[in-house]
Amino acid sequence: KGRIAVLTSGGDAPGMNAAVRAVVRTGIAKGYEVFGVKRGYNGILNKEMELMTFQDVSEKLQHGGTFLFTARSAEFGEEAGKKKAAAICKEMGIDTLVVIGGDGSFTGAKDLSKYGVNVIGLPGTIDLDIAYTEYTIGFDTAVNTAMEAIDRLRETSNSHERCSVVEVMGRSAGYIALWCGIANGAEEILLPERFDNDYDKLIEEIKKNREAGMTHQVVINAEGVGHSYELAQRIEEATGVETRATILGHLQRGGSPTARDRVYASVMGSYAVDIIDQGKKNRLVGYKDGHVYDIDIEEAFKMKKSIDDYEYQVASILGTRCDYKNI
Ligand code: F6P
Repeated sequence: KGRIAVLTSGGDAPGMNAAVRAVVRTGIAKGYEVFGVKRGYNGILNKEMELMTFQDVSEKLQHGGTFLFTARSAEFGEEAGKKKAAAICKEMGIDTLVVIGGDGSFTGAKDLSKYGVNVIGLPGTIDLDIAYTEYTIGFDTAVNTAMEAIDRLRETSNSHERCSVVEVMGRSAGYIALWCGIANGAEEILLPERFDNDYDKLIEEIKKNREAGMTHQVVINAEGVGHSYELAQRIEEATGVETRATILGHLQRGGSPTARDRVYASVMGSYAVDIIDQGKKNRLVGYKDGHVYDIDIEEAFKMKKSIDDYEYQVASILGTRCDYKNI
C-alpha cells in the first residue's frame, strides 16, 4: 500500500514507545510497510531505518524513553540536510514520515514537507508547550514524577522547618511548575510566563507567611526562571530561614508512562495511520476538547498557547500566599 517511517526526535518523553507501537501495529494492520528510524532525523540522513514487525514493538508499551533513540540533529537543521533527507525518503519509497517530538521537531517536519515528503506529527514532550494541542505525550508522567519527588522534599523541609526551592523542567514554559504548584500545594510558584522578577516581593511573602505561623515553605521554580541555587541563597540571607535548592532535572523525563500517557499516545499513533490512510497530508495530531483531532501543520504553527489564568489563580490562593487578596 505504501511505506511509512516513524521517528522520535528532541527530548524523550514517557509514552513515546506507546506511540511508535501504535503507528507500527496500525500501519501493518492497514497494509503498510512501517520503518522505524533510529536517532531522530539523523537516522534518515544515515539511513538507519528498519522494517518493523508486529513483534518488534512487543514489550515496549510500559517503558519510558524511546527504544528508537532520539537526537537533536545539527545536520538536519541545515537546509542541505533537509534536502538530503527528502531525497533519501524518496529513494527508499517512504511516502509519509511520522515525527513524534516537540516544537523543534515539528519545525523540521514542516520544512521537510516543502521538499515533498508527507509529514504527520505527534506531540511528544514533557513540557506541554505545543499550542494546537491540550495534551502532549509525557507530560502526565513527568508531572506525576515531579509531584512525588516534591512530596518527599516537603517532608524533609517540614521536619527541619526549612524553605525548599524546587526547580522543575519545562524549558521556557511553566506548565509542569503550575501543575506541581497545585498538586503539591506549593506556597510559591515562579513561572516564566508570570514571574516579574520581583524577588523582594517574594522574600517579603516568605517572611510574612513565617510570621503568620507557616513552619516551612515549598517554592516551585520553573526552569525558565532558573537560578535556583542563587535564589535559595538569597532567600536564606534575606529571611534568615534555612533554605535548600533541588533541581529535579532529567529524572522527570524517565519512568514508566502513566495510563493516560499510554492511552493517549496509542490513540494518537493509531489516528496518525488513519489519516494517512484517508490521504491527508502534512498534519499534526493532537487533542482538542478531550478528543483526538488533526490540524494542518502551517495552521498549527500560527497558534499561541498561554498559561490558564484560572489555574494560576487557584494555585496562588490554595498555596496560602499572604498576598492572595491582591490577585
Ligand atoms: O523539552 C524537554 C526538556 O526536558 C525541557 O524541559 C528541558 O529544558 C530540555 O528538554 C532539556 O534538554 P536536554 O535533555 O537536551 O538537556
